[in-house]
Amino acid sequence: MSTVLDVSRLRKDFPILERTVRGDRPLVYLDSAATSQKPSAVLDAERAYYETSNAAVHRGAHQLAEEATDAYESARAAIAGFVGARAEDIVFTKNATESLNLAAYAFSNATAKAAQGGVVDPRLVLTPESSVVVTEMEHHANLIPWQELCAKTGAQLRWIGLTEDGRLDTDQMSVIDETTAVVSIVHQSNILGTINPVRSIMDRARDVGALGVVDACQSIPHMRVNVDDLGADLVTWSGHKMLGPTGIGLLWGRSEVLNSLPPFLTGGSMIESVTMEGSTFAPPPQRFEAGVPMVAQAVGLEAAVRYLDSVGIESIEQHEHDLTAYALATLSQMPGVRIIGPESTVDRGSAISFVVDGLHPHDVGQVLDDRGVAVRVGHHCAWPTCRRYQVPATTRLSTYLYNDTDDIDAAAAGIRAAQEFFGVA
Ligand code: ALA
Repeated sequence: MSTVLDVSRLRKDFPILERTVRGDRPLVYLDSAATSQKPSAVLDAERAYYETSNAAVHRGAHQLAEEATDAYESARAAIAGFVGARAEDIVFTKNATESLNLAAYAFSNATAKAAQGGVVDPRLVLTPESSVVVTEMEHHANLIPWQELCAKTGAQLRWIGLTEDGRLDTDQMSVIDETTAVVSIVHQSNILGTINPVRSIMDRARDVGALGVVDACQSIPHMRVNVDDLGADLVTWSGHKMLGPTGIGLLWGRSEVLNSLPPFLTGGSMIESVTMEGSTFAPPPQRFEAGVPMVAQAVGLEAAVRYLDSVGIESIEQHEHDLTAYALATLSQMPGVRIIGPESTVDRGSAISFVVDGLHPHDVGQVLDDRGVAVRVGHHCAWPTCRRYQVPATTRLSTYLYNDTDDIDAAAAGIRAAQEFFGVA
């Protein structure tokens, strides 16, 4: 097992990992794909902001408003630096789901405006002859907004199917063709762990004149991602999966594309000029940040980024790669346990879904929880993916920088206990 990270030292930075659950069981947290735990540095930063500088940003002439605005924009610059972007191309949203809705609503709002004779970017206008392409491994957040867009415009929703071993079926790339207006795909699957060849898919999208969107929720927290290198026009992710607070999401856009998008939410702060008859809108990113934004969360996210930088995202990636190899080897040797998703570490992240013969995933999760092991069970907001593999649900374990092989061993012992308890060993 790798010694690239000093996990026992890192764990001391995360107060919640000290607690016990279900009585006196030490917490074994294997649910970081759902949300990561937060280091003290993040908690302290949010508290310090509220104690010293709290104010509404981009308004007010007083010192607190100035300090709050500086803190908010400093956070934007920090997260931009983390993904190799320019600060002005980063939009703060409530979460990645809102970022993806912002993208999908840009198309439906532009299409509606074009129908009224308004001037819009023609790339955003869909007709019943248009198509929208996703994959069969999307999180619902990157599926339902596009389903709704198709329902509103008459466009056809298409998807790239999956192979038995949990990969995209690259023989189906021809679903992206000259009718395609947008291709929106996940970088790293939250249910299968698969890391997809996004660059080649985005290149194909560009070749046919479609815009490309990438859901990077499960990749940016775990590996070095330069958003520009993905070849996408828009990239979305969330703060809470990368040690930051809940309540903050991110949207990066290629500036030329971001400039052409109509707003999603409207109101204060996102305007250029307002009369009773109508309004014009500010340039990005302000155009997409209506209302008083989540300043404390942005401050917390900056602290998270600085923490990740201090540990080193490359070291985190290596650590998780080694831990994933250990977990895959452990699970694949267990009788009655079947991994749903790639069984090798090639192009694979650390979320591992599995089923246990004769047991419902909820029962497995219950026994694990009784032993203090926190995993996610269910369809993981990727119900079509479960249907594809003909399982009602899975049990999923997912790791981060604060996990080690003891945590995997605890999960394996819990699975064996579940098999024995229910008599399927
Ligand atoms: N998207 C999160 C997960 O996969 C919530 O669990």
